[in-house]
Amino acid sequence: MAIQGVMDTLKNTNLQEIGVSFSLADLMRDIKIEGDNIYIKLFSPSEKYHNYLKDKAETVLKSIGAKTVQIEFTSEPPKQKQPPQPPPQQNPFESRKRIPKIKKVLAVASGKGGVGKSTVAVNLAAALKKKGYEVGYLDADMYGPSGPTMLGAKDKQVVATPDNKLIPPEVHGIKIMSIGLLLPSEDTPVIWRGPVLFKALSQFLFDINWGEELDFLIIDLPPGTGDVQITLGQTVEVDGAIIVTTPQDVALIDVKKGIQMFNEVQIPVLGIVENMSYFVCPDTGRKYEIFGKSKTENIAKQYNTQLLGRVPIEPKVSEFSDLGIPIVLAKEDTESAKSFMEIADRIIKKITEQ
Ligand SMILES: Nc1ncnc2c1ncn2[C@@H]1O[C@H](COP(=O)(O)OP(=O)(O)O)[C@@H](O)[C@H]1O
Ligand SMILES: [Mg+2]
Repeated sequence: MAIQGVMDTLKNTNLQEIGVSFSLADLMRDIKIEGDNIYIKLFSPSEKYHNYLKDKAETVLKSIGAKTVQIEFTSEPPKQKQPPQPPPQQNPFESRKRIPKIKKVLAVASGKGGVGKSTVAVNLAAALKKKGYEVGYLDADMYGPSGPTMLGAKDKQVVATPDNKLIPPEVHGIKIMSIGLLLPSEDTPVIWRGPVLFKALSQFLFDINWGEELDFLIIDLPPGTGDVQITLGQTVEVDGAIIVTTPQDVALIDVKKGIQMFNEVQIPVLGIVENMSYFVCPDTGRKYEIFGKSKTENIAKQYNTQLLGRVPIEPKVSEFSDLGIPIVLAKEDTESAKSFMEIADRIIKKITEQ
């Protein structure tokens, strides 16, 4: 027997005789059809109607060809239809993990390479150390790991623990880890791309044993706003991002992109550092605004963030950087060192206000 025919028959069988407005089909809770044999379960809380319903169902079903009709009754109320549930909210950031034993993770980013991102990152690390904090510096710039040179850690060895965690060496009191310390030689180019790069990077981020708890970990990110940065933002809990730029318009376009990217991955932007803002002549100490008047502050305001400071171009910055000593440790009386110390103060203030 076809189910459709049976269902139509039940639907057309009204129960007006017992004073109700519904049909047999409305009472049906289960049905099984095997050949010409039909089993149905009917909802009827009162036994009073069982005989009536049984007769009625048997009669109508036999009239359409059923050989046997087996009827069972249930007094369980029909299941309430669940209202449609909204799909569970997928939060892409839910799986973000904190790097163990780090109080605050700060990422230093820039739209382009060569604007001084690493210089800012190492000097920020050194400035925080100078102020008495325990600091780590993580060079996550897989393409141009310059951290070991800038902190004078090129000859330092990375030791692995028996459970394959990397122990960062310490220079100037700062714990440092860089992909550059793991490559066979400085000239080995890193040619990882896309997923491989990301996997290497995220593994790297969680496979370091920083030892005693650190107050700050400064992550020197690869330049740009690509997949690596976004995926990183979805993997690691970062407490704040610092965007480094130079004052030219072309660099400022990237600042906007950078801020938008961090907003998308829900990482608070602590502010912008304008590097190479002006030139301080070493002979006369005079300042030259070689790129014209800075627009960075306006952009910061426009995007609801702040200018954390302006660092001048000073030949000593790169001289000492090449020697492996951040300017804040090498020459604290220079304009740039003073500026880095002020930037560190503003960052501490911002991050503790959060
Ligand atoms: N304020 C500055 N004054 C002088 N030289 C600087 C300054 N900032 C960066 N440099 C130099 O510019 C070069 C690029 O800086 P770097 O920090 O490596 O940039 P990025 O990490 O963005 O690629 C380095 O040689 C560095 O020493
Ligand atoms: Mg760099």
